[in-house]
Amino acid sequence: MGLQGYLRSHLSICALLLSSSASAFYLPGVAPTTYKENDKVPLYVNHLTPALSDKDSQLHSVLSYEYYHDAFHFCRPEGGGKDVSESLGSILFGDRISTSPFELTMMKNETCKRLCDEQKIDQRSAKFVNRRIWQHYNLNWLIDGLPAGQPYTDPSTNTDFTLRGFPLGSVDKEQKAVLNNHYDIVINYHDAGKGQYRVVGVLVVPSSRADSAQDCGNAKSEQTLTLSEEGENPVTWTYGVYWIPSSTAWAVRWDSYLHVFDPKIHWFSLINSSVIVVFLCGMVGAILIRALKKDIARYNKLESFALDDLSGTNGHAEDDVQEDSGWKLVHGDVFRTPKNPLLLSVFLGTGSQLFVMVGTTITFALLGFLSPSNRGSLGTVMVLLYTIFGFIGGYVSARVYKTFGGEAWKRNIALTPTMVPSIVFATFFLLNLFLWAKQSSGAVPFTTMLVILGIWFVISVPLSFAGSWMGFRHAPVNPPVRVNQIPRQIPPSTTYLRPFPSMALVGILPFGAIFVELYFIMNNMWFGKVYYMFGFLFLCYAIMIITTAAVTVLLVYFLLCAENYHWQWRAFSTAGASAGYVFANALLYWISKLSFGSFTSGVLYVGYSLLVSFLFFILTGTIGFFSAWMFVQRIYSSIKID
Ligand SMILES: *[C@@H]1O[C@H](CO)[C@@H](O)[C@H](O)[C@H]1NC(C)=O
Repeated sequence: MGLQGYLRSHLSICALLLSSSASAFYLPGVAPTTYKENDKVPLYVNHLTPALSDKDSQLHSVLSYEYYHDAFHFCRPEGGGKDVSESLGSILFGDRISTSPFELTMMKNETCKRLCDEQKIDQRSAKFVNRRIWQHYNLNWLIDGLPAGQPYTDPSTNTDFTLRGFPLGSVDKEQKAVLNNHYDIVINYHDAGKGQYRVVGVLVVPSSRADSAQDCGNAKSEQTLTLSEEGENPVTWTYGVYWIPSSTAWAVRWDSYLHVFDPKIHWFSLINSSVIVVFLCGMVGAILIRALKKDIARYNKLESFALDDLSGTNGHAEDDVQEDSGWKLVHGDVFRTPKNPLLLSVFLGTGSQLFVMVGTTITFALLGFLSPSNRGSLGTVMVLLYTIFGFIGGYVSARVYKTFGGEAWKRNIALTPTMVPSIVFATFFLLNLFLWAKQSSGAVPFTTMLVILGIWFVISVPLSFAGSWMGFRHAPVNPPVRVNQIPRQIPPSTTYLRPFPSMALVGILPFGAIFVELYFIMNNMWFGKVYYMFGFLFLCYAIMIITTAAVTVLLVYFLLCAENYHWQWRAFSTAGASAGYVFANALLYWISKLSFGSFTSGVLYVGYSLLVSFLFFILTGTIGFFSAWMFVQRIYSSIKID
């Protein structure tokens, strides 16, 4: 796995983007592999991952292990398993794919084959393996790019589909860990004519056979294999292969994996939340527009009265002028530079970068460019887009900083591409240390880290510098009203306008918009299902943006009416407060769905959740700030000020 692999995957993505495909889901870049009779079909092995337990429906670990971890004593091919080249996203998301000693020959049934010589599993390894069985670990294989799975019938809709992965072992009635040492591999093939065959489905039925050594346990004694933790255990790994003709076409072979668990619930909750959100936004909009119209009309009438007053024709207008209140009063302060303009502009730069990256990624996915058959394409595209959009980050940060009247432009240029990525990278590195300590394969290899650092320094940082340069060259955004010399006194505010209550109130709404989809994404992330409902995600993203903008604008309106002109940070932090709910939701999810035995799993879970929440904070904060800024620009340019 070298730079070449990355380049190749990146090039193929570029090719994918350029060629517009006729099929929405399956890509021209991923051409079918055809096999002739007696051709070898490669079986690759991926990492072992924890799966949901059937008993308590909970996940007991988040660590994954490499297939060739010594303790498992799985058979290796001659010369050891070789790494199969993967895309960057695939590695970041934990795939560790290697070659294997399995020999599958197209159309050749095989009832029992030994994989390698008898292995001796020692006490320590037995303990390790038994623990993994108790934690419901799954094996993940890839045959012709298709994940080996188990058949599953959804009880609520009675539809059959394939769950990825199959169990390492099981726990029997006597509460003993039983190891699966025989695999029946059932492969569906499709006859494409002219003696060409394609793989269109892979199921593995694992079983445990204590007497596997003799004739693959064909004696069918019901004896299962349990590993004793008090002595050495001889284990023989065996497998059988069954080729079954199928009418499934190659182009739709992924369909059985993309099963929506109860789509009705999905639709229902999505429509539910969007109706509430749309209703809410409509209300906010109506209130605001009416109130503003009244305010602006009043202000401008007062203005004309005041002018009349000067010319001495009207006597009673003076009282009305005294009554002048609300947001107009702070016109001389509303564009005053906020505290820490540097930090805010750096956050806003990064936030814009994230905003465009997420939007573009979801759009690509929606258009079918990131099909699940292209492993890791989602991760790769996200990293790549974030890197390229460094330009936007630099530009926004510089322009905002210039508008704030910032002086330390060198620091702004340097911090924009480094600050948030350093925080993310440092957290990632720390969490990786835990994974390394646990010998988990989830740890991102050091070389991959170097490659990411390289991409970041060579592409992202210069692009960001270029963006900053452009941003500083452009004129700042001119405020419609002048800033007074002396800052106004801010009257004490009511409870709900104080930072924390307002954050708690406002933050929940954008969170409400994405809550449902977040739940599905988390399910997919922690339970290894394929997430593909990008249509839903796209809608949710749009609804979230609208909601965030609407509620932040409302908050800023109330703030200004209360004569509090420190709206910049307040808009950012209040909109970003939905990240707090995202984190709380992750903790709730932990309580309800996950039960970790180990400290490391807990640390990792909390660490990754914090990281995601932090990025979400910056993203929503940025959306909130810019909508509030546009709003403030609009309303102050519509009133006359002497
Ligand atoms: C392999 O075995 C299965 C089931 O035993 C059978 O349905 C199938 O036709 C066989 N395939 C070949 C190529 O002989």
